[in-house]
Amino acid sequence: MLRIWGRQPLKGQVKISGAKNSALVIMAGALLCPDDCRIRNVPSLVDVSRMGEILAALGVTIQRQGDTLEVNASHIGQSKAPYELVSQLRASFFVIGPLLARLGVARVPLPGGCAIGARPVDLHVRGLQAMGADVQIEHGTVHAYIKGNKQRLQGAKIYLDCPSVGATETLMMAATLAEGETIIENAAQEPEVVDLANFCRAMGAKIRGAGTNTITISGVPRLHSTDYSIIPDRIEAGTFLVAGAITHSEISLAPVIPEHLTAVIAKLHTIGAEVITEAPNRVRLVPGQHHRATDIKTMPFPGFPTDMQAQFMALLTLSEGNSVISETVFENRLRHVAELNRMGADITVKGNIAIIRGVPMLSGAPVVATDLRASAALVLAGLAAEGITTIQGLQHLDRGYENLEGKLQGLGAKLCRVESESEPASQPTTESPETANSTASKS
Ligand code: UD1
Repeated sequence: MLRIWGRQPLKGQVKISGAKNSALVIMAGALLCPDDCRIRNVPSLVDVSRMGEILAALGVTIQRQGDTLEVNASHIGQSKAPYELVSQLRASFFVIGPLLARLGVARVPLPGGCAIGARPVDLHVRGLQAMGADVQIEHGTVHAYIKGNKQRLQGAKIYLDCPSVGATETLMMAATLAEGETIIENAAQEPEVVDLANFCRAMGAKIRGAGTNTITISGVPRLHSTDYSIIPDRIEAGTFLVAGAITHSEISLAPVIPEHLTAVIAKLHTIGAEVITEAPNRVRLVPGQHHRATDIKTMPFPGFPTDMQAQFMALLTLSEGNSVISETVFENRLRHVAELNRMGADITVKGNIAIIRGVPMLSGAPVVATDLRASAALVLAGLAAEGITTIQGLQHLDRGYENLEGKLQGLGAKLCRVESESEPASQPTTESPETANSTASKS
């Protein structure tokens, strides 16, 4: 459990880690390459370790040195990803594209539903079929192999019904080694898709248009070794910007790519906070005296990210006036509402719409995290609430935030992990920002 003593002002700088969603898909992408790949700026997260275990189970050699992964997929001994691991990590389904492209066959268990929605993989499957794969789903596993006597997947024109991040990534990876040209229309434009495209290009893939809604891939017979550094995590950065706003504190973040944060920064401006670009890769949050309500609709990039919806909701509970949040990307991503209400928020839900009436104060309470970003929202609410908040369900937080409590402690927050609710409630001492930064970079 995480225990937070609320209403401590924050101050200082925080180091932003490499992007979780880039790291996971780029690790899967390393399967495309028969030579050594070095991937830098990889965050230390439970999800990253699980993806490493999946690659190892497929026969890949993978070693971690600090924030760098050395991956060698010269010999892939297995075409079947193990169910016990895939069931714990949806992103592991992304190995299907590279496995099929490299081996001509892939067997990956369906990732199943998850807390935020059903999350089907039909777009991944239909795209692979268009590229000449026979795909059958039997006993909960997707069996895919290249049809006929062809050695390689075949380039195809694929239109995605919705700009799915995962489907775009699966099909882009599969197309790098296909015969001929693949065009993905209505492709996702998220920065992590661009990061994956850049990684594949660094291995010799021919990809144009990543970051727009049409991506064109000219297949090549083989990719080669590379040394690649992952972009900073825009969702971690956004979470820290909200931490500054909700505690009315001035904090700086680096490294960041401000263009990846445009929608989040625009909403912070609307509610009355300022985000100043101090250097090309550094921003500073200057909170407003009073924050105002605003309406938010989650959308694919460059729209407002669904992965920041819960954190912004925590902020809007304390903003003056009524806000409306519409979650349009996932069908069940408002489960944090009940927990925020336990802390004194005034939120009602109608379908996928949350109506938030700003309150002057939240009060600390025992709460349960239901998914990754929901747990971040509860941490943020706990930082702003009067009294003590205890958050259960930290396994979600550890999946996606590198050393969140160390980084917050470095900014002056008072929080620590406890084994149980009954542990003595003495406040931890605060680390200096310097200590926190070095803790963050070591982990
Ligand atoms: C990725 C991110 C996740 C983020 C999401 C949306 C990773 C590891 N995860 O998830 O953090 O919240 O993008 O920005 O990168 N869909 C289908 N059929 C499919 C695929 C998707 O109907 O075959 C639907 C999903 O159910 C969802 C919507 O499309 O409603 C968007 O999902 P998608 O963009 O694919 O998200 P993920 O790649 O799973």
